[in-house]
Amino acid sequence: MEPSTQKLIHTFGALADLGQEIAGRGDFSEMVRTSMHLLLGTLALRRGAVAECVDEGSLRCAAIWGLSDRLFNAFSMTESERNEFLNGEATEFLISNDATSNAFVTRYREGLRGEEIELVLPMIVRDEVTGLVLLGRKASGEEFSADDFDTIRAMVRHIGVGIHTRRLLEQVAQRAEENRRLYEELRTIYRATVRAFAAAIDIKDKYTQGHSERVGRYSEIIAREMGWAEEEVEGIQIAGYLHDVGKLVVDRDIINAPYKINAKESSELNRHPAAGYEILAPINHPYADIPLMAKYHHERLDGRGYPEGLVDEQIPLGAKIVSLADSFDAMTTDRPYRRRRSFEDVVRDLRENSGKQFDGKVVTAFARAILKEVNGDTKERRITKMLGKDYLQGDNVPTLLTDLIIDLTHKEAQKAQEAQKAKGQA
Ligand SMILES: [Fe+2]
Repeated sequence: MEPSTQKLIHTFGALADLGQEIAGRGDFSEMVRTSMHLLLGTLALRRGAVAECVDEGSLRCAAIWGLSDRLFNAFSMTESERNEFLNGEATEFLISNDATSNAFVTRYREGLRGEEIELVLPMIVRDEVTGLVLLGRKASGEEFSADDFDTIRAMVRHIGVGIHTRRLLEQVAQRAEENRRLYEELRTIYRATVRAFAAAIDIKDKYTQGHSERVGRYSEIIAREMGWAEEEVEGIQIAGYLHDVGKLVVDRDIINAPYKINAKESSELNRHPAAGYEILAPINHPYADIPLMAKYHHERLDGRGYPEGLVDEQIPLGAKIVSLADSFDAMTTDRPYRRRRSFEDVVRDLRENSGKQFDGKVVTAFARAILKEVNGDTKERRITKMLGKDYLQGDNVPTLLTDLIIDLTHKEAQKAQEAQKAKGQA
């Protein structure tokens, strides 16, 4: 193999490696500099520079060697000069050749000669002049050979594509950033709207001030304890805020009845999950399943809930979480016809109704989250704050929670075993 061919292969090899780095490493100016040094080294040139066309025809130095930094300050490219490069046949211009009629080269010929630049090459990618490469003479004083020109063109093309790619990447990143910002803005507006909605629901029900907000927070805490991804946790918090949105269509007197409501009133009130679904379903929520969580937050595992009387595995996990959060808040806040229940009483209810009304796994997760706060295993005091600081003060609280967790975990394991057996028999 001829030495020049070997050199060429070597050069291309190095360039291929560099090309791969453009996207990956992100250090673009380093890539341009290294490419230019390779070009100078391969052909033994004393000086050279790479300039990038930036807005409105100015040129920015991307790499320079053996030339003064001020070189590019004086340069600009008019639109007609740019078009001449784009439409012309020539791919390179020799400064020493006075016959060159190229307007840009003619305009700067004297200055370029003064800097001992011998060759000017426009970098053209996809019908766009991305920049210029300026090269000095060979150190040996020899003229450029045809092979030299081939090498130079290939490398200049490579650098041009590199610059073009970087620009595209920058544009994409900018667009993505813009989209991200817009999306974030939309989400903020959405969340603010949801909270306003929740406040509106709670205002209608004068005895359950802040109920929807608390259900949202409890749901979020339970979902996080169950290992849900952050995006889903945000979603269930929203579902919690909105779970009772259907109450907006229920008669205010029924919602606020200071007595136990009769069957007719009760069936009117029980319309609210389905009504909530109707309200929420047409909205394009940024989170999954919000309408379904509202619809099924009064379903029970034993099928005695409403509106559809679904059983255990038919009920979405999110709805089970909201259901527990909802009931827990109902039990732990005062109502017009009763005081709130003691924590011991609430734990008894949760134990008794796990597997009937509530999902044992969900109750266990909630109990774990409460226990973490009670034991100080977390800095969070969100549950404590919602319940009022005295509510979880009892000495027996940690034991109540621990026993509940153990019992329910045991029950869940048994349930899983039975399901496995049933599967085996089937
Ligand atoms: Fe409800």
